[in-house]
Amino acid sequence: MSSDLALFRRRLLQNPKQVSALAPSSRFLARAMAEGLGPKTGRVVEFGPGTGRLTRAILAAGVPARMLELFELDSDFVRHLHQQFPGVAVHHIGADHAGEVVAPGVGAVVSGLPLLSMPAEVREAIVGAAFRILAPGAPYIQFTYGPKPPLPPETMEKLGLRVEAGPKIWLNLPPARVYRFYRI
Ligand SMILES: C[S@@+](CC[C@H](N)C(=O)[O-])C[C@H]1O[C@@H](n2cnc3c(N)ncnc32)[C@H](O)[C@@H]1O
Repeated sequence: MSSDLALFRRRLLQNPKQVSALAPSSRFLARAMAEGLGPKTGRVVEFGPGTGRLTRAILAAGVPARMLELFELDSDFVRHLHQQFPGVAVHHIGADHAGEVVAPGVGAVVSGLPLLSMPAEVREAIVGAAFRILAPGAPYIQFTYGPKPPLPPETMEKLGLRVEAGPKIWLNLPPARVYRFYRI
């Protein structure tokens, strides 16, 4: 775990805009993100896994490795993820390209992406890609550190989404809240 932290800090210093967090998610936040997932969820896709904190929680919830696919832009994180999670597919491409390599019918998309620090058009391309592969009624799960949901109302309206807020996870640096978005 301490090597995870060292890698995270190194990549943060090299590419602060893309990594965009002070530290990897805590195990408490990771568990909240994976809540409700399990062996019956079907295929799960994760955006922006970094060192794999959420990945570990998704697998611990009972999602089989062969049912999980990751999208990560940073090549050092990609190498680390391959080593840490054998059997999990790791795509070294942006989350906005998920629809090009994943067939529709996915049971959940779990995202650790810094959505709110992205330009609106990038954010919409990413969330749009998620809902193109998600099965009807399946959630797009995203945490944020700020006081508001991680998608502005105009984006939600444009994409036809509703949101459910989870509890605040205080044991995280900084504290965060998990949101689940659904197609209306
Ligand atoms: C805030 S870190 C979260 C890491 C991890 N999920 C966690 O919770 O500890 C954001 C991660 O998203 C990745 N990332 C940023 N933009 C991306 C994109 N468009 N597609 C895929 N990954 C991206 C970064 O390289 C970084 O690993």
